[in-house]
Amino acid sequence: MNTYEAIMTRRSTRRFIEKKVDDELIEKIVEAGRHAPSGGNSQSTHFFAITNRELLDKLAIMVRNSFSQMELRDGMYKSLVSSITQSKKGDYVFHYNCPVLIVTANQKDYGNNIADCACALENMMIVANEFDLGSCWINQLKWLNEDEGLLNLFRNLGLEESERIYGALAVGYALSEDGLPNRNPLPRTGNKVEWIK
Ligand SMILES: Cc1cc2nc3c(=O)[nH]c(=O)nc-3n(C[C@H](O)[C@H](O)[C@H](O)COP(=O)(O)O)c2cc1C
Repeated sequence: MNTYEAIMTRRSTRRFIEKKVDDELIEKIVEAGRHAPSGGNSQSTHFFAITNRELLDKLAIMVRNSFSQMELRDGMYKSLVSSITQSKKGDYVFHYNCPVLIVTANQKDYGNNIADCACALENMMIVANEFDLGSCWINQLKWLNEDEGLLNLFRNLGLEESERIYGALAVGYALSEDGLPNRNPLPRTGNKVEWIK
């Protein structure tokens, strides 16, 4: 698969099988993230590649507990409403029980923190597709990036005082008939283009 194909066939995967992803593949995916461009070549994105099942389960519970205590407000982003509503019902797993969660953090006072994490996440999604792995951007840890419990947990894993989480990526083999990630093209109805020649 060439780069163009990998980009054009990337879709989000939200159902995973338990099959272990080899560390070598995870390392390559993270390296693709580390080779993303960064503002001023700051290279300040901090990656956490989590494969520990107990920790992934613990994170799911902590995120569910935090969302379940939140109030719904008018005008709230619809995905946030869905996370809160499902958490209050008690059956919410923000990372879809993926076998690998790659969390990206950055300096909280750096103006390109989200942009740099986004570049890294996109690189990792494309490479995951090339390796026949499904992936999905996971935003919940960003929404909860001032949550004391989660901050403490990540501080114990190496998150610095000055850093916050700005995105994450669920990665794993897809639960699908052929074991491959969904690659059906999603029609572009938005993303307007003006071509000025
Ligand atoms: C900034 C951003 C945040 C996203 N957050 C989530 C998320 O928290 N959970 C999720 O399931 N998908 C999330 N997505 C995936 C989008 O829902 C998905 O990319 C979009 O519906 C288009 O589908 P596709 O990825 O299959 O092309 C996010 C994507 C982006 C770019």
